[in-house]
Amino acid sequence: MAKPLVIQTEDLDPAPAAWLSERCELVRCGAGEKRFEQLLALAEGMVVRTYTKVDGAMLAKGPKLKVIGRAGVGLDNIDLEACRSRGVRVVSTPDANTQAVVEFVWALIFDALRPRLFLSEALEKSHWGEVRRELRAEKQINELTLGVYGLGRIGKRMATMGAALGMRVIYHDLLDIQSDLRHGATPVSRDELLANADILTIHVDGRPSNRNLIDGAAFARMKPDVILVNAARGFLMDNRACAAFFSSHPEAMALLDVHEPEPFGSNYPLLGMENVHLSPHLAAATDRAQENMSWVVRDVWRVLNGENPEHEAK
Ligand code: MLT
Repeated sequence: MAKPLVIQTEDLDPAPAAWLSERCELVRCGAGEKRFEQLLALAEGMVVRTYTKVDGAMLAKGPKLKVIGRAGVGLDNIDLEACRSRGVRVVSTPDANTQAVVEFVWALIFDALRPRLFLSEALEKSHWGEVRRELRAEKQINELTLGVYGLGRIGKRMATMGAALGMRVIYHDLLDIQSDLRHGATPVSRDELLANADILTIHVDGRPSNRNLIDGAAFARMKPDVILVNAARGFLMDNRACAAFFSSHPEAMALLDVHEPEPFGSNYPLLGMENVHLSPHLAAATDRAQENMSWVVRDVWRVLNGENPEHEAK
């Protein structure tokens, strides 16, 4: 029997790709490539990552599609409703990069709080003393309140770490989370979260209603020296409001790993601001996380083989 055709539109780690190739005809082809539509007409599966947009128009050109595998966590690039109405199942890897993202966010926070200097040459005694005075941190982490916006997998681990470091941890979530699952964090209203967080870290999902969740009104509630971290999705924040806040609050700092759009152009309103640090969507960039995400191929194969997938997006 012919193997089912699966299109791989973005990178996959070699071992999971080889595993799927043993079972399917796996063809690497980006959604913008010329032959994509030809392949889509025949494909039973598609494996995507962060930047392939799966919408109704695309699905209409894939009449045989049974499954979309999202190598990663966020499902904002996939129109779940359109998939549902066409009977296309969507599978993903919800816990694949939790650890990687949490490590990255804490690395950003520690970098922001603790100035450091790595020496490549000996310093004169007077300069040594000067440097030690200049690099004194203004804030110690256990004196600060960590605000976690969204207490999902990543938010919970951020809370655990914050509590372990001696921080007061508060969170806001749409769900009512039972007290033994709060990981040391105290629930507060959205306004309280915004007003009381010294470090505000965003971990909500990318559902359409979360677009511009952090708008001008939200910035207006924040502390003038807040450290804002966004490693979730760029569109959760209003870029112009963000630029206005950080240009008028030089004591505040933004640590932004995700952007709208990605990649951003030279007209990005947050470029070139001293207190806004931009990184190119690196939070999940560890070998382990990348491999974990790529193993979405197991669930893709389960669906094609008539089995139940482990992680199906509903
Ligand atoms: C995710 O949603 O899993 C990440 O944003 C994926 C990525 O880093 O590409």
